[in-house]
Amino acid sequence: MNSYQLLDTVGNTPLVKLQNINPYSHIEIYVKLEFFNPSGSIKDRMVKYIIENAEANGLLKPGGTIVENTSGNTGAAVAMIAAIKGYKAILTMPDKVSKEKQNALKAFGAEIVVTPTSAPPDSPEHYVNTAKRIAKETTNSFLINQYDNLKNPEAHYLSTGPEIWQQTDGKVTHFVAAGSTGGTVSGVGKYLKEKNPNIQIVMPDPIGSIYYDYFKTGKIKTDGSCSYQVEGVGEDHLARAMNFSLIDDMYQFTDDDAFTMARRLVREEGIFGGGTGGANVWAALKLAKSLKKSAVIVTVIPDNGVKYLSKFYNDEWMKQNNYSIIS
Ligand SMILES: Cc1ncc(COP(=O)(O)O)c(C=O)c1O
Repeated sequence: MNSYQLLDTVGNTPLVKLQNINPYSHIEIYVKLEFFNPSGSIKDRMVKYIIENAEANGLLKPGGTIVENTSGNTGAAVAMIAAIKGYKAILTMPDKVSKEKQNALKAFGAEIVVTPTSAPPDSPEHYVNTAKRIAKETTNSFLINQYDNLKNPEAHYLSTGPEIWQQTDGKVTHFVAAGSTGGTVSGVGKYLKEKNPNIQIVMPDPIGSIYYDYFKTGKIKTDGSCSYQVEGVGEDHLARAMNFSLIDDMYQFTDDDAFTMARRLVREEGIFGGGTGGANVWAALKLAKSLKKSAVIVTVIPDNGVKYLSKFYNDEWMKQNNYSIIS
């Protein structure tokens, strides 16, 4: 009998080639299926890495409480690891997070604190500030701090990046990933550019996030309201984990771009991912269209479509919100 444990299944996710959705015969597009991670998203990688580091450095002690702000996926990773290791988990999130994601955290035994999505970044009610306050007030607590913790991109530099390099036999030419903390795009981008400085990194960003304008103009738009509906990417504040110097280009996308592509991915490729996977593939196709020479584009499907059954996988919800339904 082997002694394989659940946390040993984090990472080493499959990389598959799009078969039907890519009309550009000179371009190969590969997607890394991050919903194969045990709590269902890419966040397992960085949460596992940060918690193991905190334990090794005495920052997280037995019986302790792990606190974090989350759009749901980091929370699921924290809640899963807390359940395995016997920690308590307190997770804060904005109220736009789907009910499926909120309930999943409760299923793992975590405590959740829901805050208004409309709370501005400097408000004490903002979900990031709420998590900081709870961590301060709770004895023997550890804050993951995914936005500003540089161990976040490091986790992707040490795992996701090398996996993509190996799985493409070093043939990858472009990496595409939307960002929230920026951990994925910065960690993978750093690793791939060290391997081959010609590799281009492209980041899609939802309209309403501050990142696109910051990248293009160096300024933060004060009206970055984040009123878009796609969950888990774009931001209303700058994150230290996000390294703009690694990004070669950014594209802005709409909720409709992300949701209709996620729905096409499951219908045409059988890949049942979340809205950010849709946005990433939308951007990979936009990039592919612009390329004259052959290329190998890699992107990620960060999480599982099951988490959005009551939202963009529901035709009624799509109609109510005036999104396109392609049958
Ligand atoms: C669904 C989803 N996609 C993509 C991301 C972006 O990942 P990162 O924080 O590494 O930029 C997140 C982060 O919360 C997410 O929840």
